[in-house]
Amino acid sequence: MDSLKFPESFAWGASTAAYQIEGGWDADGKGLNIWDTFTHQGGDRVFKNQTGDVACGSYTLWEEDLKCIKQLGLTHYRFSLSWSRLLPDGTTGFINQKGVDYYNKLINNLLAMNVTPLVTLYHFDMPQALEDQGGWKSEKTAEVFEQYAKFCYATFGDRVKLWITINEPYIVAKLGHETGLFAPGIKEPGIGPYRAAHNMIKAHAKAWHAYNTLFKKKQKGHVSIALDSDWAVPLDPKSMDDKEACDRYLQFRLHWFANPIFIDGDYPAVMKSEISRKSKEEGLVTSRLPEFTDEEKSLIKGTADFFCLNYYTSRKVKPLSIKSSGPSFDSDMGAEGIKDPEWPESGVEWLAVVPWGLRRLLAHIKDTFGDPDIYITENGFAQSEPPVLQDKHRWGYFQETLSEVLKAIKQDGVKLKGYFAWSLLDNFEWNSGYSVRFGLFHVDFNQPNLPRTPYFSAIEYAKVVKGNELIYN
Ligand code: GAL
Repeated sequence: MDSLKFPESFAWGASTAAYQIEGGWDADGKGLNIWDTFTHQGGDRVFKNQTGDVACGSYTLWEEDLKCIKQLGLTHYRFSLSWSRLLPDGTTGFINQKGVDYYNKLINNLLAMNVTPLVTLYHFDMPQALEDQGGWKSEKTAEVFEQYAKFCYATFGDRVKLWITINEPYIVAKLGHETGLFAPGIKEPGIGPYRAAHNMIKAHAKAWHAYNTLFKKKQKGHVSIALDSDWAVPLDPKSMDDKEACDRYLQFRLHWFANPIFIDGDYPAVMKSEISRKSKEEGLVTSRLPEFTDEEKSLIKGTADFFCLNYYTSRKVKPLSIKSSGPSFDSDMGAEGIKDPEWPESGVEWLAVVPWGLRRLLAHIKDTFGDPDIYITENGFAQSEPPVLQDKHRWGYFQETLSEVLKAIKQDGVKLKGYFAWSLLDNFEWNSGYSVRFGLFHVDFNQPNLPRTPYFSAIEYAKVVKGNELIYN
């Protein structure tokens, strides 16, 4: 049964994000961030106007989280730092020591348990003070982010060796600045997402260089960015239009960020040509897609020490059928993704379960971005309300996915170094609030002490981690 074994020293992890689990939204001097503001505005931005004010209470109950990690036997744990907990107004002008103490406790206790931390600097929670000055739409934020990154390396980098600068810049750009479904709720279709992405890419590159020049020699760590993508196949594999739409779908999602960072410092050719053509048609003198200078391109190119992929689902793609009246990201892309009705749906509408899509996406990354070391930094399946502890169905999806992961390693030669399940705990799932449960551990949000209980999936995942092999009962 050797074929079900994972490579030696494979990283087994679970992931979380600060706003989704910590609570303590105004505890001990934490500054406001955009999700505090967004959720407090009400107006049904979030399911039942729920907030992350308390969430899983991990700011005080972090030892309970460590027990969960221990029970799973994880080798790695991925979490994010709350920028405004550390630097209340986003700048190093004032450092909140209580925030520093909190993450020090967490990191030191993880290391004492022999668990390697993988730390994300930015997981959707811009300090409100910086948002008030333009947030990701402002170029200045890239510089402030660099200062924040340096502060984190200097403060925690003696112990943290794996860093992610920004989680899912695509989601930040599209949901935060195009549709406004996520904080900061900006609705600037066809403009906002490109500006935000431009500054996030620059911010990432600056943070990578800061590490490389100032810290790497001494701290010997690695820095990357976490990119999310669906896998995409043409709706009709024989249709040229569908094939081209499918290519654009991947270029406008994964390649939007991966091309600049992993290939040549610049956006994909099809994004540049399509957005510039449409901008001209709209009577604009410059493209809505900003341009990088040559200097910026060389600064951006090659700024990732490994590839972090967040994968959840796949789509069948065809040309866009409904055109929007004004400019929009979707009409620039000119493609739409459809769920095959045969694909099972996990507890949330967008998440069609397509394990083979992950294998294909991994092979695509290997072939296109220079065969990098890859970590799957998020993958998971939700349950809707009411969740069941005996989630055998869901564990079946994990098993199928891990089996595709093994094929990617063994048959396709992908240099896959680790797998992180999303998520350690049921948590605040952004605009779905607590109605969608991605946890390996159930959290009872109705009890004041927020007890954590393992799902069947957690018990089975622990067996896989322990044996470093896929187990079928
Ligand atoms: C990702 C995000 C996570 C989590 C997950 C499940 O986009 O990084 O924070 O919410 O999706 O939807």
